[in-house]
Amino acid sequence: TEFISANDLATLLGVSVNEVISKCLSFGMFIAINQRLDAEAITFIADEFGYEVEFISAEEETSIQLEQEDKEEDLVSRAPIVTIMGHVDHGKTSLLDYIRKTNVTQGEAGGITQHIGAYDVVTSSGKRITFLDTPGHEAFTAMRARGAKVTDIAVIVIAADDSVMPQTVEAINHAQVAGVPMVFAINKIDKPDANPNKIKEALANMNILVEDWGGKYQCQELSAKKGIGVEDLLEKILLEAEFLDLKANPKKNATGTVIEASLDKGKGYLATVLVQSGTLKIGDMVLAGSHYGKVKAMLDYRGNKLTKAGPSMPVQILGLNGAPQAGDKFNVTTEREAKEIATRREQLLREQGIRAIKRTTLNELGRRI
Ligand code: GTP
Ligand code: MG
Repeated sequence: TEFISANDLATLLGVSVNEVISKCLSFGMFIAINQRLDAEAITFIADEFGYEVEFISAEEETSIQLEQEDKEEDLVSRAPIVTIMGHVDHGKTSLLDYIRKTNVTQGEAGGITQHIGAYDVVTSSGKRITFLDTPGHEAFTAMRARGAKVTDIAVIVIAADDSVMPQTVEAINHAQVAGVPMVFAINKIDKPDANPNKIKEALANMNILVEDWGGKYQCQELSAKKGIGVEDLLEKILLEAEFLDLKANPKKNATGTVIEASLDKGKGYLATVLVQSGTLKIGDMVLAGSHYGKVKAMLDYRGNKLTKAGPSMPVQILGLNGAPQAGDKFNVTTEREAKEIATRREQLLREQGIRAIKRTTLNELGRRI
């Protein structure tokens, strides 16, 4: 893959392109002014001029320049973002459905319920929890692979009439690798053949000791179908969240992650985004992956119109000029910058998505590429 031209590299290094060319020549390397250079050549030339090169992804590069620092006094606590994982048919969807049905925000009822892949609920104790409705571990893994960190707590659902199954183990592994705390939900206890102790024993054999067995992992026996134990599970999630002391700054331009996006024939591109810091407002210019657009409308999962959304809020936005990918970061910026960065990302995506820059070089020169 070739990244930048000899001319651009010379500018980054703060030398003339002739110096670059003659340096190369002295090593028997013939390059032209506008010749695009590969990683090896860039590293070599930069080294000759006393610079070390670091290769970072296009998204990482452009996100860096859009980041804003937080002041300690601006940080306020935010709702935990929870992903429900577990083996097929163990009751993930049923659990989420029950939670959603019984924890509708006061005064927000009446909207058209629609699938947006993420839900924010208010528990009976008045606290908020955001649930991500990931269809499977693949989504979780794919998001993580793209560098998106969108889960604070993982709820591992295990059916009490079954056992710890391969996908249960996988889910546990994923959470452990990601360093995300787990809360166990032993589901289907209404079933006559339910045996929660058998599940706890299987977990103990994996070195996971639940609290009532003297361990550190919170665990709740429940029935998603009958609603037994669900409120207790929510309280345990909130307790876990308290330990994490989750905070974010709502007083700045929003940043976050794209959960899903699609094209609606009537409305245009719809993107469900999770605001992770800052506050997203109607009219904001959003840059997500290589797409951008002004937020024309913002809806919660019940279809209620919103004018703003703060940290940990999942919202569906209308107005992007394309569908970004799940796991893409989003930022709020000016139209000019959004257009410029989106175009560059698109170009970079075409060119393999990685380019060479040296951060300190950029800082020294005080310019962006
Ligand atoms: P996948 O999305 O396919 O991985 O499954 P899931 O984990 O989302 O399971 P789902 O919620 O679809 O539940 C699977 C089956 O178990 C359904 O028939 C549910 O009605 C049933 N089920 C879920 N929870 C309970 C429960 O607490 N008790 C009983 N008796 N059945 C349950
Ligand atoms: Mg399901």
